[in-house]
Amino acid sequence: MKKKVTKAIFPVAGLGTRFLPATKSVPKEIMTLVDRPLIQYAIDEARAAGIKDFIFVTSRGKSALEDYFDTSPELESVLRKGGKTDLLQTLKSTYMDSGAIAYIRQHKPLGLGHAVWCARKLVGNEPFAVILPDDVIAADKPCLQQMVEAYEETGGSMVAAMEVPPAQSSSYGILDVKAERGPVASVAGMVEKPAPGDAPSNLAVIGRYILSPQVLRNLGSIDKGAGGELQLTDAIAAEIDQGRDVFGYRFDGQRFDCGSKSGFLQATVAFGLAREDLRDDFEAYLHGLISMRQAAQ
Ligand code: G1P
Repeated sequence: MKKKVTKAIFPVAGLGTRFLPATKSVPKEIMTLVDRPLIQYAIDEARAAGIKDFIFVTSRGKSALEDYFDTSPELESVLRKGGKTDLLQTLKSTYMDSGAIAYIRQHKPLGLGHAVWCARKLVGNEPFAVILPDDVIAADKPCLQQMVEAYEETGGSMVAAMEVPPAQSSSYGILDVKAERGPVASVAGMVEKPAPGDAPSNLAVIGRYILSPQVLRNLGSIDKGAGGELQLTDAIAAEIDQGRDVFGYRFDGQRFDCGSKSGFLQATVAFGLAREDLRDDFEAYLHGLISMRQAAQ
């Protein structure tokens, strides 16, 4: 029987330089989409997929992240006294069970693969998920849950996949697809950030993974890859060379690259419009703004 996926790694050690000066004192993962920090979206998605143990790979200057998941007795008592039941519920949804959350430090920025490898002792010898909080995915059924359901059929290792314009291949891990069945693609190889002419396809890896523990062992033995960093893509590709199954999963949903300013802005607009309590005013404002700009042209 396949082991259930109950552990997830959240690599959150990056400096977030693209968002300076905001990230000078606020970790990128605490930046808010509407009213929730990016990391909360990632946690909620993991919970929906059945994740019970949350492993954060952090670095210096990220203590605000640890505080975020703490209980907040003062706020709680103010909200309770004021009868603000909804807000109290919202606050409590940020709490984590005791012992369910662990923090590991990545002491040097040696790449995504290295960050994941730093968590190896907490994962042990079982399949695990990796969620990159920069990739925010709006979906009726959360992306990782879609993948866990597919994984229950396929086993192996699985990465979320999405088509990207060929010119953008050098921003992603790209899959070499062997065969496709519905949303599941069996993968013959994976390349990290190939130049457009070298990309084996336009199917890119998006930041959701279900990985076999062999990937952790591979991370301990592979060489540095693209950008001089230890790449997760290379450790997964090594599994294929070892004769193991690796799949890409074309998820249902819309992905926002919240690691870029433009992606973050797009997500803000999309998530704002999706909120019932904000939609009407916000939509009217956007319509007005666009008409004004068109009239001025
Ligand atoms: C990472 C992975 C890459 C993947 C991407 C998805 O790259 O290394 O394979 O396609 O996330 O967002 P990064 O964006 O950290 O450079």
